[in-house]
Amino acid sequence: MKRVLQRPPVGVARTAVLIAAARAQEQSRLHPLFDDPLAAGLVQAAGSANDLNGVRTLAGDHFVLRTRYFDDVLLGASRPQVVVMAAGLDTRAFRLQWPPGTRLFELDLPELVEFKEDALHDLGARPACERVVVSCDLRDDWPTALIRAGFDPNRPTAWLLEGLFMFLPPDAGERLLYWVSALSARDSTLALEHVNRAFRELPQMRAVHQRFGAMDARWQSDVEDPVGWLDAHGWDAELTHQVDLAAQHERAVPAITDPRKVGDARIWLASAVRTT
Ligand SMILES: C[S@@+](CC[C@H](N)C(=O)[O-])C[C@H]1O[C@@H](n2cnc3c(N)ncnc32)[C@H](O)[C@@H]1O
Repeated sequence: MKRVLQRPPVGVARTAVLIAAARAQEQSRLHPLFDDPLAAGLVQAAGSANDLNGVRTLAGDHFVLRTRYFDDVLLGASRPQVVVMAAGLDTRAFRLQWPPGTRLFELDLPELVEFKEDALHDLGARPACERVVVSCDLRDDWPTALIRAGFDPNRPTAWLLEGLFMFLPPDAGERLLYWVSALSARDSTLALEHVNRAFRELPQMRAVHQRFGAMDARWQSDVEDPVGWLDAHGWDAELTHQVDLAAQHERAVPAITDPRKVGDARIWLASAVRTT
């Protein structure tokens, strides 16, 4: 029987195609910072991401560096349970070498999940860990859905929150971090990306906001002190600056994160350990 193909993601879910396109492009470099053999096929299944080329030109180098940063943080954490929040077209469950017994949960909106599962099936993708997919809206009661899917709050977890917070209203972001923290056993880890207000207000970002606004994917929040914010929720956090990350990987600093060009505007990259 012919399967009914899911329609490509729209709205905020479509931003996942943009990030996958940046990861696909990285594969054509001589020394890519990661291998993501599924990225191009996922983008192709979505049609294309050409309408978002302007955003990719501006921030593609940042998406690539952050991918490698979070790959290293997650593998370094080596926790038995991994939760990728707003996973989008992330393929870490397939492309990273996880310790045996790792169970990885991916959460995202139902329309994104349906599309992705369909596309992964067509690509013949096989996960490298136990992969559990949870369809949910992260503004709603996702903890119940996660626990029903087999998440164990008593086991140390490595959480990833990449490319998400800015799309949530401030109260939803706060609630999300509250629940992530409440579900985190001692020794859990957390890695997140967020932006400060100066970054949101960069003149270079105006066209991005217009594009995202037109597709109903408006940025709605920012944070000035991510370390203090995480500390208030029981996490001991440290920041990594893109200048250091770029030097570590012998890449140019992405212009959109280069202090010589954007001053105090920041895309925060943080990793943290549960202290309580
Ligand atoms: C910019 S993409 C990032 C995807 C992925 N983390 C990555 O970096 O490749 C943003 C993702 O957030 C998801 N998202 C946004 N709001 C959400 C919500 N309220 N509930 C669940 N997922 C959401 C979108 O569907 C999309 O997949």
